[in-house]
Amino acid sequence: MKPIYELTDVSYRYHSSIPALEGINLLIRHGESVAVLGANGSGKSTLLHLLDGLIFPASGTIKAFEEVLTEEKLETDDFRCFFRSRVGFVFQNPEIQLFCPTVSDELAFGPLQLGLPSGEVAERVADVLAMLGIYSLKDRTPNQLSSGEKKKVAIASVLSLNPQVLLMDEPTSSLDPRTRHWFIDLIGELRKAGKTIITSTHELSVVARIASRVLVLTEEHTIAADGTPAEVIKDHELLHNSNILYEHELGRSGYLRKGICS
Ligand SMILES: Nc1ncnc2c1ncn2[C@@H]1O[C@H](COP(=O)(O)OP(=O)(O)OP(=O)(O)O)[C@@H](O)[C@H]1O
Ligand SMILES: [Mg+2]
Repeated sequence: MKPIYELTDVSYRYHSSIPALEGINLLIRHGESVAVLGANGSGKSTLLHLLDGLIFPASGTIKAFEEVLTEEKLETDDFRCFFRSRVGFVFQNPEIQLFCPTVSDELAFGPLQLGLPSGEVAERVADVLAMLGIYSLKDRTPNQLSSGEKKKVAIASVLSLNPQVLLMDEPTSSLDPRTRHWFIDLIGELRKAGKTIITSTHELSVVARIASRVLVLTEEHTIAADGTPAEVIKDHELLHNSNILYEHELGRSGYLRKGICS
């Protein structure tokens, strides 16, 4: 399978000083489903922002679809259109993503930008509203939605684009159990349809259901492991050292037994 992304020695720092990723080497092939696991601040969102061409490496290179991904390249109409029609991004914070006056407009925005005829766009919007069970929200403004509803609309707006590559930053956070279950099934369908899916998550319990490959980021912003869900999940030492698994029951019960003053 052809590579979709190829990262060579990629580092990123915010404001040229705050380290967010260090020396990342990574090859992601067409049709892979990859989960990025890591503690708060390990660099998961930064990695996804880089893969979406929203920010660019301080050093190293990123190739997407076998082309070097740079700010200049994304300013050229041809490549921007090629790239944006193939890659969809669900932001960790849906507030950043939703900017249209209504939910329906939000879902129509991407397909209209791609130049699809309005009849086809209306059909796609209706399909995706029904698929996510958010038809009743279609005329609401984003600020009339709960956080979970915003997340659903953010996911819906990417699905209405039907991209080849889906980048999703903590997509299951703030989803209720039924929607989470539906979403996990949807990922299965998207995988079968040959999409390349890269999700970040804290949730060890969903990893094996949404991915065939897991990357573990350390708190030093490097890749500690790259393996199958089964390999990563059984490696408690790795998960503990990367602050993904915390032996809280032991710690808390010890603390409670001891009491504050003893
Ligand atoms: N806009 C920003 N300005 C400065 N530093 C930032 C900014 N965004 C992130 N950082 C820093 O970059 C590092 C990586 O952050 P990032 O948001 O990628 O982590 P994350 O793994 O997505 O965390 P979380 O699980 O909390 O979402 C952290 O140390 C963070 O403090
Ligand atoms: Mg994040």
